[in-house]
Amino acid sequence: MRILLTPVIAACALAAAGCARPATPGPLIPATTTMTTAWQIPQDPTTDPALTDPKLGEQIKWGYRIFVNTPDEAPRFTGGSVACVNCHLNAGQRERALPLVGISGMFPEFNNRAARLISLPDRVVDCFLRSENATGRGVDDLPSTGSKEVLAVTAYLSWLSRGYPVGANPAWRNKNAIAADRQIPVATLDAAAGATVYADRCASCHGPEGQGVQIGDKKAGPLWGDRSWNDGAGAARVYTLAGIIRYSMPYLSPGSLTDEEAQQVAAFITSKPRPVYPFKSRDYPGSTVPIDAVYYRRAE
Ligand code: HEC
Ligand code: HEC
Repeated sequence: MRILLTPVIAACALAAAGCARPATPGPLIPATTTMTTAWQIPQDPTTDPALTDPKLGEQIKWGYRIFVNTPDEAPRFTGGSVACVNCHLNAGQRERALPLVGISGMFPEFNNRAARLISLPDRVVDCFLRSENATGRGVDDLPSTGSKEVLAVTAYLSWLSRGYPVGANPAWRNKNAIAADRQIPVATLDAAAGATVYADRCASCHGPEGQGVQIGDKKAGPLWGDRSWNDGAGAARVYTLAGIIRYSMPYLSPGSLTDEEAQQVAAFITSKPRPVYPFKSRDYPGSTVPIDAVYYRRAE
């Protein structure tokens, strides 16, 4: 016992922050970003020499390319100019920016909006339909769980989960949320106050009209209008959008907004027009539409 414990105690004595801190950094880019970490992809299948299986490897790599460049790589299912990576920063590998590492073992999972269990491919279909506004290209060729683009993206996400246990919720999952006791009633949020936050903290990159500005090889996405996500997306809900913004924006100083500022700016963004998801009436069967799903409520 003594022999086994001694190195552990010695290591703890050396670690300035104490034993609670893991000895190795986690798998994610820290939420507090810098101009260097903004471009880092800890797990990049296109440069991973271990990925030698020709058939599966090609799919994982294509899934990654779809994820980081959705409009060009999956044009038939992309109705705007937003890529998965716009919201899931660093290809889904940044803390507090909707990270997707290690999540696949949590599916199938109950989904309130669908009122049933959904699989990971089901989830990816929903992302295409809503966040990527696939329905904006018409409803004749919609993504399904058998679509090759959906399978490739699922292959990338499953690859990001290799080695993680089934059924264990990663500690970093679902952290982009405004705590229930900090939520300001939707009816008292003030889009005009949000417009002020927007002008001060967001417009330099997202543009005065919210359509995004090219910054080197990165383009801040359109936050509203025809090229944005549709009104059936999670990011079209006030608290969900506030949770993204609160911890991942402004891009170079994430975490610097207050809970209130994040909610006001989300109220401003969701006061704007965006593409209409044509199947909203099929969502939330048998339950009440959430209070922050403001486009659903306006359509009622
Ligand atoms: C406009 C922002 C946005 C875009 C673009 C986007 N997502 Fe998401 N995604 C979200 C939000 C917000 C959630 C959290 C759940 C929700 O909808 O309330 C989420 C959740 C997910 C989840 C479930 C994560 C979990 O832990 O259960 C997966 C998987 C996912 N997205 C994949 C994708 C893929 C693949 C794409 C591109 C095809 C994509 N997303 C594009 C905002 C976005
Ligand atoms: C320094 C530039 C910068 C500032 C300031 C900034 N953003 Fe962003 N934002 C970006 C970039 C770049 C992306 C896309 C990231 C990527 O593709 O890797 C992004 C992505 C987003 C997204 C995901 C969806 C999309 O369309 O890209 C939202 C939502 C968002 N920003 C909201 C905001 C809000 C609200 C503010 C102000 C509080 C803000 N941002 C301030 C650069 C910025």
